Amino acid sequence: MMNIRDKFGRPIRDLRISVMDKCNFRCPYCMPADIFGESYNFLEKDEILSDDELVRLAHIFGQMGVTKLRITGGEPLIRKNLTNIIEEWVKTPGIEDVAMTTNGYFLAPVAHKIKAAGLHRLTISLDSLDEDVFQIMNGARSSVARVLEAIGEAQAAGFDNLKINCVVKKGVNDHTIADLARHFKGTGVIVRFIEYMDVGNLNGWKMDDVLTASEILEKVGAETPLVPLEENYRGEVANRYGYADGSGEIGIIASVTQPFCGDCTRVRLSAAGELFTCLFGNKQLDLRDYLRGGTTDAEMIEMLGNLWNKRADRYSELRTSFTKVPQKGAEMYRIGG
Ligand code: GTP
Ligand code: 5AD
Ligand code: SF4
Ligand code: SF4
Repeated sequence: MMNIRDKFGRPIRDLRISVMDKCNFRCPYCMPADIFGESYNFLEKDEILSDDELVRLAHIFGQMGVTKLRITGGEPLIRKNLTNIIEEWVKTPGIEDVAMTTNGYFLAPVAHKIKAAGLHRLTISLDSLDEDVFQIMNGARSSVARVLEAIGEAQAAGFDNLKINCVVKKGVNDHTIADLARHFKGTGVIVRFIEYMDVGNLNGWKMDDVLTASEILEKVGAETPLVPLEENYRGEVANRYGYADGSGEIGIIASVTQPFCGDCTRVRLSAAGELFTCLFGNKQLDLRDYLRGGTTDAEMIEMLGNLWNKRADRYSELRTSFTKVPQKGAEMYRIGG
């Protein structure tokens, strides 16, 4: 196994692949409806990496030390033939864990199929159980009932380690987070609350809109006491807390107030094959050009290894220390969170 490290000694472990730039939701914190309207130019089919190209890339990254693939979007389930790609990815040497983050809208009818294809883990976004609040959070494109049905189908299909992602926006859904936690307490589903982030340049982020991790902990813990748990693996994004009565756990992702760049082993790929070494960084490479230009796997590995060796990204830490706020890079929907 290659031992590729960046400038801070961080290996390359997780590849987050956006398989589709489009999304059917218009969450104001990600794809505000006034910007992503009817006339918005999403990628054309031939601009998006093909199934074969995605499978080849997993083989390349698998040889470089990547063990975990996270399928994201936009909304990944808009992509046709995703199950075929999953079948190939789970067989890729080096790849131990293949997970997907979805908004749940198209999940119910395909949950069994993606489980059968071998997907290991699923995370479903659900920002509130209050219908009115959920409408505001997703741009009025879905319903709580539809996502709950998807969760039920996923469990029936055998996904027994489901996670729920909830972005917390102060003054919008923060009064409903304790409810969300309570609903899933004791079910084995792990709800993870995410501090609203200033990713991209379109969502009009203000620090005033952030409910901090400590405030989240206080709100959720007010009803049922929570105790901190050890991290599952080095560099885990979420801080884990268990219910004191043993009935499960929640996670809090404190990317704004407690950045976790020190252990960041993530690399990101947009649906068009653009490579990002940080959620907030600028595009580093257009892998599509190399994939379609006859570059061999060995050449790709060498090029990517050299790029990773030079990596010094730690945007969240820099912005928190306020010493230097670097230029922000791509929008979340392009690089999938
Ligand atoms: P597990 O593998 O289950 O631990 O999940 P994960 O951390 O891969 O989960 P997921 O993809 O659901 O990520 C949850 C959220 O954490 C993302 O949607 C982002 O909002 C945030 N996040 C993930 N990775 C990073 C990162 O590298 N930097 C920052 N700042 N935030 C991140
Ligand atoms: N801040 C925090 N989380 C975000 N997500 C999308 N945009 C943001 C943001 N600005 C989350 C989604 C989803 C995951 C892929 O990223 O809600 O759960
Ligand atoms: Fe779509 Fe997810 Fe962005 Fe919402 S956060 S618009 S569901 S990609
Ligand atoms: Fe990794 Fe960049 Fe997020 Fe820091 S800000 S954890 S370096 S992706």
